[in-house]
Amino acid sequence: MAIKERIQTYIDGFDKHLGGGVPKGHVVLVAGTAGTMKSSIVYNILYHNAIENSMRGAYISLEQEKEGLLDHMEGLGLEPAKVADKIDVLDVGQTRLETEDYGLRKSWTFIIRDLIETTKKEKGLDLLVLDSLNIYETMAGVEDPRIELFELFKWLKSLNITTFLIQEMSLDSKEFAKHGADFLADGIVHLALEMVDDIHSHRRIKCVKMRGSNHSTDYFALIFGSSKFRIPMGISDVWK
Ligand SMILES: Nc1ncnc2c1ncn2[C@@H]1O[C@H](COP(=O)(O)OP(=O)(O)OP(=O)(O)O)[C@@H](O)[C@H]1O
Ligand SMILES: [Mg+2]
Repeated sequence: MAIKERIQTYIDGFDKHLGGGVPKGHVVLVAGTAGTMKSSIVYNILYHNAIENSMRGAYISLEQEKEGLLDHMEGLGLEPAKVADKIDVLDVGQTRLETEDYGLRKSWTFIIRDLIETTKKEKGLDLLVLDSLNIYETMAGVEDPRIELFELFKWLKSLNITTFLIQEMSLDSKEFAKHGADFLADGIVHLALEMVDDIHSHRRIKCVKMRGSNHSTDYFALIFGSSKFRIPMGISDVWK
């Protein structure tokens, strides 16, 4: 069956190379090393889909505090206050404090899934971000991460929302993800900062995989300017 509904990335020029956007309901890894704008790209997807398409989003931050995350987005020229009724930024560091206050002894995976389910039930949810999958795995603290990840992906798919899982990559590894998450995911988008000579580096983006999509496997220069992400339209634009 052909995929009809797709989520726009709001990276100008990129969707046509994805086969029209991210198929609705997919679980997609957004992988990259530190500072490759993983959080910015996915928040930007939630932000513009909230404004343009009235979609509801939840951003589960397992590491960065909500205030710092939203300050960063403001610095990019996005206005979190404008979408406060559409996007819930759920700071699990804060939840952890509250949980300890109440002396509860629930596992982290339970708390995170409960947060997502409650948000979906109470407000509705179209788009979900988990930042990051690496921290989730650490919090889960299980002996066999493969089984935990298999269960997580199965559960996410059953929710029928489009999910972006941020995957932090180490500088010395070419692996997009560990413990088979790259095979479980419906899609993988790779963000990179590449040296183009001894001094200069450029941001790049590539769709590594996207099930159900006839997508390009090229790397594109990723440009951020005037509060927008875009990829070059013509060859003369590539190194701007
Ligand atoms: N106002 C700005 N305009 C353009 N780029 C910016 C601006 N502010 C920060 N940046 C860039 O954004 C990067 C951080 O973006 P972001 O937090 O989305 O990356 P990340 O890949 O999620 O990082 P981390 O690995 O720390 O989670 C900074 O390292 C910087 O290069
Ligand atoms: Mg980040």
